Amino acid sequence: MADQFGETGVAKRIIDPTDGLIVDIVGAWASEKHERLRKYIDAAHGARARYLRPRGMGGAAYIELFSGPGRSFVEDDKAFIDGSPLVAYKAAKKSRTNVSELHFNDLESDNVDALHQRIAKLGGAASFYNDAAKKAVDKIIYALNPAGLHFAFLDPYNLQGLPFSIIEKLARLPRTDMLIHVSTFDLQRNLRRYLDDGRVLDAFMPGWRDRVDIKTTNQQAIRAGLLSHWRGLIRNLGTSTAEAIELVSGPKGQRLYWLVFVSAHELGLRLWNDICNVNVQKRFDL
Ligand SMILES: C[S@@+](CC[C@H](N)C(=O)[O-])C[C@H]1O[C@@H](n2cnc3c(N)ncnc32)[C@H](O)[C@@H]1O
Repeated sequence: MADQFGETGVAKRIIDPTDGLIVDIVGAWASEKHERLRKYIDAAHGARARYLRPRGMGGAAYIELFSGPGRSFVEDDKAFIDGSPLVAYKAAKKSRTNVSELHFNDLESDNVDALHQRIAKLGGAASFYNDAAKKAVDKIIYALNPAGLHFAFLDPYNLQGLPFSIIEKLARLPRTDMLIHVSTFDLQRNLRRYLDDGRVLDAFMPGWRDRVDIKTTNQQAIRAGLLSHWRGLIRNLGTSTAEAIELVSGPKGQRLYWLVFVSAHELGLRLWNDICNVNVQKRFDL
């Protein structure tokens, strides 16, 4: 990201020339998660319709706790693309079964401002929050109708941003699907630090100290043990929870992230399976 920093070493923001607003800087693989997101929102339109007027009253909300500014610059391609909030917004609109409400949060106020303007320019309206995700989740859950069918895309940069308590709280709503980005790259790069100072792992995957043998020198075994423990926590969220997981790799085959889909109902998992069967690099059932 050489061009992201000025002479002062302070991060510069790149501006999207089409709207004059800031963007995120991403790798080419970001498009892959957006593609899954787009397909899910499209495929779920029938399920959504049952919770929207006139058929239902609970509503169907779309939630992002790590929204970014709504547009991104792909470094490798030198191209500007929609960020996940705009991908989701446009996909819902195109499916003709719009979501009933949008909730967007980001820790950076500049991102929130840019996204606010972009959604408004598209003629949309949303609730915006500028908090740490673990605080925003409480405000958003309070605003949701528990009788609705909701969908949360959780897309933090790293493990630190996603305490397990966030997932637990969302899973307490009876019908909330989640698509969760887990950065295996972060775990690989920072494993030693995370083990030495256990606070990130304590929040991301409570109970890991009792479950994972960290005395072994085999780092890969430690990483596998940690991720298996996290998957166990997901599985224990509730008896009706079903999950599917997908590994997204970089151009040189390096493992970058998991996209973990968590659904509290059969239909959600079926939809996700259909989506994953298209253009898949690698997929696991848990
Ligand atoms: C991977 S980016 C999101 C990209 C976006 N979902 C997309 O695909 O266009 C992660 C975002 O999380 C925000 N962030 C970092 N730590 C956070 C936290 N603790 N709570 C909420 N947002 C956070 C960052 O400002 C950044 O915009």
